[in-house]
Amino acid sequence: MEKKEQLYEGKAKKVFKTDDPEKLIVSYKDDATAFNGLKKGTIAGKGVINNRMSNRLMKLLEREGVPTHLVEELSERETLVKRVSIVPLEVIVRNISAGSFAKRYGVEEGIVFKSPTIEYSYKNDALGDPLLNRYHALALGLATEAELDTIERYSFKVNEVLSAFWRDCGVTLVDFKLEFGRLSDGTVVLADEISPDTCRLWDSVTKEKLDKDRFRRDLGGVEDAYKEIMGRLEKKLGK
Ligand code: TMP
Repeated sequence: MEKKEQLYEGKAKKVFKTDDPEKLIVSYKDDATAFNGLKKGTIAGKGVINNRMSNRLMKLLEREGVPTHLVEELSERETLVKRVSIVPLEVIVRNISAGSFAKRYGVEEGIVFKSPTIEYSYKNDALGDPLLNRYHALALGLATEAELDTIERYSFKVNEVLSAFWRDCGVTLVDFKLEFGRLSDGTVVLADEISPDTCRLWDSVTKEKLDKDRFRRDLGGVEDAYKEIMGRLEKKLGK
């Protein structure tokens, strides 16, 4: 598969065309941002970890019936994916209060919910990714009703599969963000990445944060946390 011109550069990844119009190459960077790009930094080795972790988790999800954009890992930092048009929604599933949820509703972090929540943000950097509900998404024509049903079903399935997976690694899946895309025939598949950048992952016993919150909140030990969480995954799934 020949890598052709760059199509797009995001905050954490670059995307390249290939000789197949239906396939793209994603290349993971070590760059990290937070607060809509206001805070910038580098997390050494992050690109390698996120690439590999995301691919392992997407393979797991495929086996459990959640279709993804994954085709194959090409190298440490690069993966061949199906070309999608991204549904401009950030889909956030939460099991435990943290982050913007805790702030918005004035509650402490760490409250375990009776059942998971789902929320959407409009993927729009200029507007600061505002929160929106299903009806707003429909009104704005961001997705159809059928697509939202599919997205919601897959998102809760991802939560079930990944919560169980991380539990076996001694890790609690607190919350995470997903993005979905449409293939050229309209099929909705899971896209983007699933990594410590996009999930909150706490050690089940000590509650230590093993994710990007260490960077967002200047907690230190950022690289070590990424290595630790990848090590836990590899202990469970093999290298
Ligand atoms: P939040 O509590 O800040 O809304 O974050 C919820 C989850 O979404 C958390 O696991 C981190 C992830 N996330 C992203 O992947 N990208 C983002 O831009 C933001 C704000 C959060």
